[in-house]
Amino acid sequence: MTLHTREHLDETVAAIRQHTAQQPQIGLILGSGLGDLADAFEHVDRIPYRDIPYYPDSTAQGHAGELVIGQWEGCTVMTMRGRLHFYEGYSMAAITFPVRVMWAMGVHTLVVTNAAGGLVTDWEAGDLMLITDQINLPGMAGHGPLTGPNDDTLGPRFLDVRGAYDVSLQGIARRVARAQGLTLREGVYVMNAGPCFETPAEIAFMAGIGGNAVGMSTAPEVVVARHAGMRVLGISCITNIAIGADKADHEEVLAMAASVKPRFSALIRGILRELA
Ligand code: HPA
Repeated sequence: MTLHTREHLDETVAAIRQHTAQQPQIGLILGSGLGDLADAFEHVDRIPYRDIPYYPDSTAQGHAGELVIGQWEGCTVMTMRGRLHFYEGYSMAAITFPVRVMWAMGVHTLVVTNAAGGLVTDWEAGDLMLITDQINLPGMAGHGPLTGPNDDTLGPRFLDVRGAYDVSLQGIARRVARAQGLTLREGVYVMNAGPCFETPAEIAFMAGIGGNAVGMSTAPEVVVARHAGMRVLGISCITNIAIGADKADHEEVLAMAASVKPRFSALIRGILRELA
């Protein structure tokens, strides 16, 4: 898909408006194994991706995805059932298009979540991590979502991504975690394009450059959210400790995400209540 333009977004929003009268304020991107959190929404409108012009053709890749807009903890929340990943073969523009659409629908605050491998030896699988900053390795290597022509009406050509993760939202997350008696780790998220898990040498490299967790998503979506001027909060589920491990596998990631889900869901709900 080509880069996002104002015309594409206007057409996309017009199509979505045929399916919903709700006005979302919060965008929520759910990481691997966490997608069914959206089952808790009320007054839900569902919009299949196939009904949305310019939406990346997920059916080609075996996803039957949909946008979901509904009420959760006093907020009108927009999320996607079926997040798209770069490793599936989509372009960076395609995987970040939903973020543009959220913005065009009126979303001002994006909550991004993911499953990630821990790069800190004394953390444990099942920990939650507040993302304070990111290292976008694919972006630095030329696979960023803003590469190519820039539509200046959507955001600046040269984006300053310092402070991408909003400090006041981080404060809310810390406060909610403390009130729930939840240990909330904090750190820097490093993106590996995947789909290979990291070699021990890559893990050592990522820890050495300041990473605290590694995953295969999030960084491009955050870049686009900032390009659009949205506030961003990021939470990682540390599903495995990557550093020092002699293996990694996707089943383990999904199983740990499932067992973290009640705590994770409580944290997100608490944060939404604060934002409402
Ligand atoms: N590496 C990359 N992505 C991941 C991991 C990991 O160890 N765990 C969950 N997502």
